[in-house]
Amino acid sequence: MQIKLEEAEKRGKVSLEEAIERRRSRRAFKRTAVTKKQLSQLIWSAGKAPSAGATYPLELYVVIGKESAEDIGAGLYHTKKYSVLELHKEGDLRKELAVACLNQMFIADAPVSFVIIAEYERTTCRYGDRGVRYVHIEVGHVSQNIYLQCEALGLATVAIGAFYDDEVAEVLSLPERYKPIYVMPVGVGL
Ligand SMILES: Cc1cc2nc3c(=O)[nH]c(=O)nc-3n(C[C@H](O)[C@H](O)[C@H](O)COP(=O)(O)O)c2cc1C
Repeated sequence: MQIKLEEAEKRGKVSLEEAIERRRSRRAFKRTAVTKKQLSQLIWSAGKAPSAGATYPLELYVVIGKESAEDIGAGLYHTKKYSVLELHKEGDLRKELAVACLNQMFIADAPVSFVIIAEYERTTCRYGDRGVRYVHIEVGHVSQNIYLQCEALGLATVAIGAFYDDEVAEVLSLPERYKPIYVMPVGVGL
């Protein structure tokens, strides 16, 4: 099942400088669902990060809770070209994800969570061991785009690096070659 996302806005209500100034990590979320437009905008922003040698080692997954996103059912979705959601696994996985993230249970309150995964070989096959460094740098770029886009949309997020890699991979039924690097719960802040 595939869901086409909406066209991203290229002009926002918050300046880049304001977004940079206001950005901070926010860990309390309302139950309010995110709109399809907000979700589309965030996914678009994630796809606009630079990539070493244009090797693009990252993939973006989205955990969506029950009644958490406009017109989109609960499940784990794999983004394609940062403009389409493809259902990867059914069900509301938020609690299991929060537990896998060292019981940081506020993750289960957020309507959606982004999970940025890496397939290292796409970059290491060109750059050898140094490619590992490049992949980690790149994840930071994607995460910062999501942070700033959240700020511009009036949404809350926090970068989560503390989790059991194997547990997150199992909860999400990720292919063996896909390694989770970052989790970012997103929602309307409390
Ligand atoms: C690599 C990395 C990993 C992080 N992991 C977590 C985490 O697991 N849980 C959490 O609540 N915050 C996490 N954070 C957020 C930091 O705690 C936060 O950025 C820091 O306290 C500074 O606050 P600010 O983002 O509001 O400026 C992480 C941040 C980074 C950069």
